[in-house]
Amino acid sequence: MLSQTLSNIIIGLYLLANQVNATPTHFGYLLYQGFEVLDVFGPLEALNGLAGLYDLNLTIVAETMDPISSLPPTSWFNGNKMNSTFSEHVLPTHTFETAPPLDVLIIPGGNGLFAPAPLLDSTIQFIKARYPTLQYLITVCNGAGIAARAGVLDGKHATTNKAVWDQTIALGPKVKWVAQARWVTDGNVWTSSGVSAGIDVMLAWISAVYSEANATGIANGMEYERHMNSTDDPFATLHGLTDANNSTNPSRR
Ligand SMILES: *[C@@H]1O[C@H](CO)[C@@H](O)[C@H](O)[C@H]1NC(C)=O
Ligand SMILES: *[C@@H]1O[C@H](CO)[C@@H](O)[C@H](O)[C@H]1NC(C)=O
Ligand SMILES: *[C@@H]1O[C@H](CO)[C@@H](O)[C@H](O)[C@H]1NC(C)=O
Ligand SMILES: *[C@@H]1O[C@H](CO)[C@@H](O)[C@H](O)[C@H]1NC(C)=O
Ligand SMILES: *[C@@H]1O[C@H](CO)[C@@H](O)[C@H](O)[C@H]1NC(C)=O
Ligand SMILES: *[C@@H]1O[C@H](CO)[C@@H](O)[C@H](O)[C@H]1NC(C)=O
Repeated sequence: MLSQTLSNIIIGLYLLANQVNATPTHFGYLLYQGFEVLDVFGPLEALNGLAGLYDLNLTIVAETMDPISSLPPTSWFNGNKMNSTFSEHVLPTHTFETAPPLDVLIIPGGNGLFAPAPLLDSTIQFIKARYPTLQYLITVCNGAGIAARAGVLDGKHATTNKAVWDQTIALGPKVKWVAQARWVTDGNVWTSSGVSAGIDVMLAWISAVYSEANATGIANGMEYERHMNSTDDPFATLHGLTDANNSTNPSRR
């Protein structure tokens, strides 16, 4: 009885030490129909570079193993008014049931996140269930909205795509939304503004967790000029958002 308790404590301490100290090796990218393409492949370009420097594993996780389209289903989203045949498909490696333990979970944004209930319920459950086991959670664009729906941003500072600010912050009334930010960090949670900001948050995260030399080398390989100032947000200005629009501002509550 006592030894069982002790061994549980030892396993618990080991898991804790592992979570705090070890460099992440297992990356999970969460996908759903109607993902934003650059939200996925921008940060993945940087992570592909990182995987050239360290032994890393990528899991692409979704509700089912079916190919996932970047176009949301026409059943609820009329995103294709010109009847174009124009979308890209990605194959998941695992489902929510079969995904291995993950150190980092990355959640892209996209029009698919405007799906009516209950379409995203299993996705929300997955985020809620996995968050306590992660070293880091990284969201791109309105991916912060589904993390908010899972409750994992409650009490934390976060940002999102400024073009869908009102809709997204409504999904997380307990989140301290920051209106002017290319990206925001709060503890182990990193959230970025829209689309291309996902590249900047990923490179900033690589700099913080691995090294600035690694982030610079990867950015140079991408021939990408990084936005290095996390509070410089021309797209907040474009959408009429200032500090006064922070959801922590009492005048909004
Ligand atoms: C990645 O997965 C492969 C196959 O499951 C495994 O052999 C390898 O050790 C894993 N690498 C890491 C860094 O966990
Ligand atoms: C797209 O297809 C729908 C249904 O067939 C049709 O009603 C609509 O006019 C088409 N739109 C264009 C821009 O061709
Ligand atoms: C990556 O960062 C590590 C830790 O600082 C360093 O030892 C290594 O040389 C870097 N590699 C590259 C290619 O930047
Ligand atoms: C970052 O951007 C903000 C907003 O444009 C600006 O006020 C601040 O001075 C910048 N910080 C640095 C270090 O350049
Ligand atoms: C908005 O949030 C930012 C980041 O947390 C903070 O620096 C700023 O003071 C806040 N402004 C207001 C008016 O709440
Ligand atoms: C930002 O706040 C201003 C007033 O401070 C308000 O008029 C405006 O509607 C807000 N913008 C958004 C997108 O919520």
